[in-house]
Amino acid sequence: MHILAIYGSPRKDGFSSRLHNEFIIPFERRGFLVSRVFAYDLNIFPCQACNYCKENKSCFLKDDMTDIYRLIEEADIISISSPLYFSSVPSPLKAIIDRTQCLWEKYRSEGKYNNSHRYGFFICTGGSIYQDMFCGVQQMMRHFFNGINLSFDVSDFVFVNNTDSMEKIPEEKILQINYSAAKYIRLITED
Ligand SMILES: Cc1cc2nc3c(=O)[nH]c(=O)nc-3n(C[C@H](O)[C@H](O)[C@H](O)COP(=O)(O)O)c2cc1C
Repeated sequence: MHILAIYGSPRKDGFSSRLHNEFIIPFERRGFLVSRVFAYDLNIFPCQACNYCKENKSCFLKDDMTDIYRLIEEADIISISSPLYFSSVPSPLKAIIDRTQCLWEKYRSEGKYNNSHRYGFFICTGGSIYQDMFCGVQQMMRHFFNGINLSFDVSDFVFVNNTDSMEKIPEEKILQINYSAAKYIRLITED
């Protein structure tokens, strides 16, 4: 059993990373193989829209994404954490997402559409409070998880606003994450 945890924040001890750690710990305790990946530590070129993957079902660019493709394909669950940057995600995480276009091409050619027993989970923190602030990232994650053929439940996604005015993560968000971790451990070990 394998969980791939992709951290989108440059702050390894920031809000989203700490929440992500809360999610990961129960998997570690259950003996899952845990691969932690920090988007800001990787060298990943942006997608060039060269269309190579349309023909070849793989990416022409050779960089740190090569390992990420393997991890994505091996993982039973992929968890993503990110801060909200201009109502989107920071560019290193977005580069990873865009570069999975070749997996979408591959799965599409194989006729695989969201029928997997592999799961996606998402945590996002935003500094302010404004209307529909997480709508864009929620839509992006749905699109991303569909593209790489993961099942997911949007109601499990964890969004925390107003972090720029807080020191401690609200206890109810940690409880929500603990609950979700237990749910996904159960789903994966029962599958
Ligand atoms: C470049 C940049 C852009 C940001 N854009 C937004 C934004 O659009 N909306 C928002 O609510 N907060 C925004 N913030 C604040 C962060 O989302 C917030 O501080 C977040 O909780 C940081 O998460 P972290 O501690 O995991 O890094 C931005 C911060 C930075 C540095």
